[in-house]
Amino acid sequence: MAIIYKNRSEIEKMRAANLVVCSVLDELGEMIAPGVTTGELGDRAAALCKKHKVTPAFLGYGDPPYPAVVCISVNDEVVHGIPDHGRVLEEGDIVSVDFGVEKEGYFGDSARTFPVGKVSPAAEKLMRVTRESLERAIDACQVTNRLHDVSRAVQEHVEANGFSVVRTFVGHGIGRRMHEDPPVPNFVDGAGKNPRLRDGMVLAIEPMVNEGGYEVTVDSRDRWTARTRDGKLSAHFEHSVAITAEGPVVLSRA
Ligand code: MF3
Ligand code: CO
Repeated sequence: MAIIYKNRSEIEKMRAANLVVCSVLDELGEMIAPGVTTGELGDRAAALCKKHKVTPAFLGYGDPPYPAVVCISVNDEVVHGIPDHGRVLEEGDIVSVDFGVEKEGYFGDSARTFPVGKVSPAAEKLMRVTRESLERAIDACQVTNRLHDVSRAVQEHVEANGFSVVRTFVGHGIGRRMHEDPPVPNFVDGAGKNPRLRDGMVLAIEPMVNEGGYEVTVDSRDRWTARTRDGKLSAHFEHSVAITAEGPVVLSRA
């Protein structure tokens, strides 16, 4: 596999796809409150795909096929939680919402972690540090840098704050497919490729940050839901970012 570079008109299409993703995340974020179920969030995401006439990127993806249009991961769930009408959000939870669409042949992908009502200072700090680590990674998306500079930006900020970076899941190139080269780890992977960042690369950068250890387990029944091994909290933020000679362009931000 090779990195696929995008021209300006392709990046415009990716911008359009990502703006839909952004607006859906806004709407789901506004719904989040104690008493709401993750299933209701999933239903709303599906309805918004119809309204915006876009194809949900996650439904049917992988093996076993992912069964929903959005990933909703609560507290110790790291990523890939499945919406469930029996899962009621409670005050103090944190809820990660990961959503992607295909529009006119191009993908958009973004994630945010939201507080449910008032959350603990520890949960607030975890969300803040994860968000900041993504912003630092975006700042590192310069054509004078390499991929490891992006990974290092996340890892250093997370570890300096006493948290850990998930190893099992990584970000990715994105374009006419949801997952393209290169893999974008949130830690410096000495064994991984370290390409120069070039104009026209589009990366989905997605730090997954654990309050405790980095190890995760995948639910043996649904074979999707990833949880922290130690049961501590996890947060996740993701943006699709175009690298240009003029600097990074965050496609999934309004
Ligand atoms: N943002 C995630 C990713 O990049 C979401 C994928 S969920 C899946 O892989 F269900 F589609 F796998
Ligand atoms: Co992604």
